[in-house]
Amino acid sequence: MNVENRTLFTKDNLFVLRGIDSESVDLIYLDPPFNSNRNYAAPIGSQAAGAAFKDTWTLSDVDNAWHGEIAEREPPLYQAIRAAELTHGKGMKSYLIMMAVRLLEMKRVLKNTGSIYLHCDPTASHYLKMLVDTVFGKDNFRNEIVWNYEKWTNAARYFQRNHDILLMYSVTDRYTFNKQYGELTERQKQLIQTGYNTGSSSGKKIVRIYDRKNPKVQTKLPIWTEEGRAIYDVSMPKGKALNDVWKIAALNGQAKERLGYPTQKPIALLERIIKASSNEGEVVLDPFCGCATTCVAAERLGRQWVGIDISEKAVELVQMRLEREVGLFGTVIHRTDIPKRSEKLANYRTHKHILYGKQEGNCNGCGTHFPFRNMTVDHIVPKSHGGTDHVDNLQLLCGACNSTKGQSTQAQLISRLKTQGVLL
Ligand SMILES: C[S@@+](CC[C@H](N)C(=O)[O-])C[C@H]1O[C@@H](n2cnc3c(N)ncnc32)[C@H](O)[C@@H]1O
Ligand SMILES: [Zn+2]
Repeated sequence: MNVENRTLFTKDNLFVLRGIDSESVDLIYLDPPFNSNRNYAAPIGSQAAGAAFKDTWTLSDVDNAWHGEIAEREPPLYQAIRAAELTHGKGMKSYLIMMAVRLLEMKRVLKNTGSIYLHCDPTASHYLKMLVDTVFGKDNFRNEIVWNYEKWTNAARYFQRNHDILLMYSVTDRYTFNKQYGELTERQKQLIQTGYNTGSSSGKKIVRIYDRKNPKVQTKLPIWTEEGRAIYDVSMPKGKALNDVWKIAALNGQAKERLGYPTQKPIALLERIIKASSNEGEVVLDPFCGCATTCVAAERLGRQWVGIDISEKAVELVQMRLEREVGLFGTVIHRTDIPKRSEKLANYRTHKHILYGKQEGNCNGCGTHFPFRNMTVDHIVPKSHGGTDHVDNLQLLCGACNSTKGQSTQAQLISRLKTQGVLL
């Protein structure tokens, strides 16, 4: 991992994600804006005052270059977005383009054993699921978790809307999963009460014992059966294996952990996710970290963490929370730059040969055939627009087209060539 533990970036996460090494993260939780057509602002006087973010999307919000990029390179992804546009309108399309380019980067930075939890609500969850199916593969879908909370609103003509959706996907089927347990069943409670239980398993008599006074502590006292056999089965009942409906209280006005940050999520929710899908010491990333609930939960559970948020407020809040809730002082590394990937990218000459073959020796602007030495490698999406050195973002242009293009995008080059009459 080329980013240090306990780093918080104040920046658009797309740029930071592009700077993170491939296959270096164990778990991603993201709680992006939901496209709910609302503007969020923290109340004046709350600890989070000054934090605000917009949750409405128009095409101008989107780096327009990406629109064509997705259409050209990820046709299935583009079709999923197109379907959402036809069903729901242009706002949804812009939102999904914003999400799609980021999800592609998230997939790249996750290890093969990693997982991702995309937190969303019913406004966009069905469209987002199509995106994640496309990016991670439908076979890597693991759960659609319903987070059920109580929140009473004036819902006169429909049922109270009391849940969010968490889409859980893995990168491969070798993902980390630590089974989680909830409350004890009635039967298990009874076993702890009575201390032992006799039953029958494959014909043999089995006896389980528990420490009656302190059910958390396992004892190794033998139980003597009527036949005089000592039995040391000391497994404690763990409770019911958790299902995909999670009842966890939302942070209401009275909640102690509440900072007033709009859309702050409960620590309990994040702790459950982190316990289930990562191990101690592993790396948890939250690219839309808000007031850094994920970072605080990860710290409490002994995981490494990295958070990204575009809002300035996040870094202040996370330091304050880490001091107050975990007792860590002055430990957060705050960055506003873009990390540099430490992995080696394939060398330039190799790229040029591959590209020459792919383009069959033709310039990607004017379409004219040129000898190898007259071609230059060009960034399709300029680096100043967030483009990468990845071969997917490279092309060959002739000298004339390269200077016409300058720092603009490929779409602008094509339109200039048309104006100049070079292209029809
Ligand atoms: C729903 S909130 C996350 C709340 C968070 N889970 C918590 O418990 O506090 C969404 C966050 O995404 C941030 N955000 C929106 N667009 C972003 C972007 N392009 N890059 C990074 N952060 C972004 C907003 O500033 C906001 O804090
Ligand atoms: Zn040319």
